[in-house]
Amino acid sequence: MPGAPKEWRRLTPCDIGCPYVTTFDPGRMELLLQNKNAVIYGASGEIGSAVARAFAQAGARVFLASRTQATIEALAQEITQAGGVAEAAQVDALDEAAVEQHFNAVVISAGHVDISFNAISIGYLQGDPLTELSVEQFTHPIADVMKTQFLTTRAAARQMSKQGAGVILAITATPARLALANSGNFGVACAAIEGLCRQLAVDFGSAGVRVVCLRSAGSPDGPKLDRFMGELAKLQGITREEFEARLAEQTLLKRLPKLREVANAAVLMASDSASAFTGTVANVTCGQIVD
Ligand SMILES: NC(=O)c1ccc[n+]([C@@H]2O[C@H](COP(=O)([O-])OP(=O)(O)OC[C@H]3O[C@@H](n4cnc5c(N)ncnc54)[C@H](OP(=O)(O)O)[C@@H]3O)[C@@H](O)[C@H]2O)c1
Repeated sequence: MPGAPKEWRRLTPCDIGCPYVTTFDPGRMELLLQNKNAVIYGASGEIGSAVARAFAQAGARVFLASRTQATIEALAQEITQAGGVAEAAQVDALDEAAVEQHFNAVVISAGHVDISFNAISIGYLQGDPLTELSVEQFTHPIADVMKTQFLTTRAAARQMSKQGAGVILAITATPARLALANSGNFGVACAAIEGLCRQLAVDFGSAGVRVVCLRSAGSPDGPKLDRFMGELAKLQGITREEFEARLAEQTLLKRLPKLREVANAAVLMASDSASAFTGTVANVTCGQIVD
């Protein structure tokens, strides 16, 4: 603001090149997730790694967990080399003992856990009518996603309730809310995750625990969705680009959210700047769904 008294001038995030500051005063720069410890399951995946990088850039110490030691260690190394604080652990988030052991070790090492985010992938079946699925094909992925979400959120809720504070994050996709033809068990599983989030928010809100689910329309800049879109396009006899354009056309912003945008929303929801958000879905669908 030209002519404004010096103490009133506010630098924009662009001025200082960092989108994660709460105080735009170079003398008192505060990162959004400073002093926060975050556990991320499925951290080597597309969503998990984007969120892990963003959390670390926002000042959090990140505890990365997934099943493949090499990929999770490579990510921890990348984050550390970029100036962040990251630790990697091989954890099967469907194994109760492994989740408990890892979570307890993080508490002992870090003293407190402020953020828990489960972004592991499950082998859903999409593309066919439900009548084409066996009982096992339909139910196993739903049971698995509920199991892993229950295990990781239970560990987090227990600790965060004792602390009197903490944020549990989850991620779903558009079919959680918008019934799409032949989504198989994916939409049902996403809706179940959102239901669990609501329950956790109700049960632990009075203990200071916030629960927010991110709902994304899918990020085409990740190789997995890129491949998936290519396969679906082939089934419809169109190109991958045409397929993405059709999806983009359904959104208000006429595009799909990038991984970085989903990660930015995760940073915001995990931060104290979102301290009144709980029991809700952060809609990062670029307006594919209007609340
Ligand atoms: N990608 C998107 O744009 C998008 C949009 C909306 C919603 N989502 C949701 O976000 C979640 C993650 O998707 P994504 O695209 O990031 O998947 P992804 O790239 O396949 O990554 C999944 C990660 O989970 C890990 N993982 C799988 N099973 C595990 C287990 N039992 N224990 C611990 N880690 C495990 C995998 O590593 P290891 O195999 O080494 O364990 C991998 O790092 C899914 O629930 C998906 O539905 C994604």
